[in-house]
Amino acid sequence: MKNVANQYIQNMKPYRPPLQGRAAYSGVLLDFNERTIPVSTNVQNVLRKCIDNQGYARYPEYNGELEEKIITYLDEKNIYADNIMITNGGDQAIDVIFRTFSSVGDEVIIPSPSFAMFNQAAGMNGNTILEIPYEDDLSFPTQNILRSINEKTKLVTICSPNNPTGTLVSINDIEAIARAMVNGVVLVDEAYAEFSGVSAISLIQRYSNIVILRSFSKPFGLAGLRIGYCIADQIMIEEMLKVRGPYDVNTMAYVAAIAALDDWPATKQYIDEVMNEAKPLVEKFFSNNNIAWYPSSANFILFNPGNAQAVLAVMNESGFRMRRRSGVLVDGMIRVTIGTVKQMQEFISTYTELILNKSI
Ligand SMILES: Cc1ncc(COP(=O)(O)O)c(C=O)c1O
Repeated sequence: MKNVANQYIQNMKPYRPPLQGRAAYSGVLLDFNERTIPVSTNVQNVLRKCIDNQGYARYPEYNGELEEKIITYLDEKNIYADNIMITNGGDQAIDVIFRTFSSVGDEVIIPSPSFAMFNQAAGMNGNTILEIPYEDDLSFPTQNILRSINEKTKLVTICSPNNPTGTLVSINDIEAIARAMVNGVVLVDEAYAEFSGVSAISLIQRYSNIVILRSFSKPFGLAGLRIGYCIADQIMIEEMLKVRGPYDVNTMAYVAAIAALDDWPATKQYIDEVMNEAKPLVEKFFSNNNIAWYPSSANFILFNPGNAQAVLAVMNESGFRMRRRSGVLVDGMIRVTIGTVKQMQEFISTYTELILNKSI
């Protein structure tokens, strides 16, 4: 059979993250940076209620409640409902941003390593990708990006904190890039901003070419429901809404996200435990055992055990599933999601017993 897919799609490789076996896994999932504790009964109850009311039988009705909750939650001056577009996960936000603001042949700058979906979206749109490597210490290549921007650059992706390195990009650097982008858009991926506590949202008012992406998949624990949102200038949102479908965010996700925002104080407590208590334990463990690791502003750490394959296999068998990274600068490293103190204490004792004590 002749392959009649468009040439840009044919040129791409599929992105197939290693998801198999996760639902049935009895250990702790430390491979996709999800929340490692259940969501509140409040969130569970609204989902049950939605089923009881046959909410799934009707097309989703966005009554604006979620957008209002998001505005209250963001607590930022001059952000209104028309600055928000809810999406089917952060992934859809990336797709919509690329489709709205770039065309075939347009130049896009993607720092590397970063989140895989940027390259996928650029591939689908037939963009010309300029990959700019992170610095050797995994800091953000601001100067190199600024030097590379020209009037043909339509999009720059800034992931902050960056997946998989954990690197935080300063607000000053984001601003400098937005100012340099005379003809294009800056996508600021803040899927992990709740963990870093840092956001570029205050720039939205002054820079109409910045689009921020947020997700409910990480600390809010709704990865399977697929919901996120964009924050941008009203005109940008209007353009993107022409691209996003009218029902792309499903009813269950919409009501669950509202309930999840109502639970923000509990989620914040979880974030504080992950970032201020559990993460330092793991960092100290790696340092004490001469395992190279990189400082991270998110709920994961990239580390280099030297023998990733064996470490992943042994830990996976023993109840801790982690993710191997490959590609520029991070080849052979492992990314481990940080969970609660108890989970990470168990992680450390298992790693000590089965990896370090056995000299694996
Ligand atoms: C940096 C980054 N952006 C976006 C996403 C997509 O998140 P979502 O589950 O909301 O599509 C992820 C998910 O891993 C991510 O790591």
